[in-house]
Amino acid sequence: MKDIKIESTLTVYEDYNELPKPVASLMDQAINTRLKAYAPYSEFLVGAAILLDNGEIITGNNQENASYPSGLCAERTAIYYAGAKYPDANIVMMALTAGSQNQPTNSPIPPCGACRQAISEYEVKQNDSIQIYFMGTSGKVVKSNSLANLLPLGFDRSFL
Ligand code: THU
Repeated sequence: MKDIKIESTLTVYEDYNELPKPVASLMDQAINTRLKAYAPYSEFLVGAAILLDNGEIITGNNQENASYPSGLCAERTAIYYAGAKYPDANIVMMALTAGSQNQPTNSPIPPCGACRQAISEYEVKQNDSIQIYFMGTSGKVVKSNSLANLLPLGFDRSFL
């Protein structure tokens, strides 16, 4: 028997203003998209912007439903659209912003487990890492160089 240690290194920016310019402009798109989310039940708005290696940017936000489980997170709305529209493009980077309509959200909000699994699928598909930047509506921004840092022991096609 032995223990294994799983470690991840993330980068933390003090705030949006510290981001490199191309990342800040992708985050701007996530911020704009977030405000168009359809989230009447949770009143928690999430925006995602995805930069593809063909230069295209795909955005998405959370879409809720009166039948709650029928709704979809922003990350999956965006990434499935990217996959549908540009099936041969690789995903370079994702910018995410999330927060309540009712109070400021100052802490970085990471993608939920189901979205990590969905993003992981595309990282495996393209055999190249996806940079992920996530924030609340203000405050610190966290960068992960790869989705794998956020989903240790991930399940992928190699197990099938
Ligand atoms: N949500 C996202 O869009 N992404 C996440 O990673 C976590 C949660 C949405 C789903 C729901 O519309 C609202 O936030 C509250 O959970």
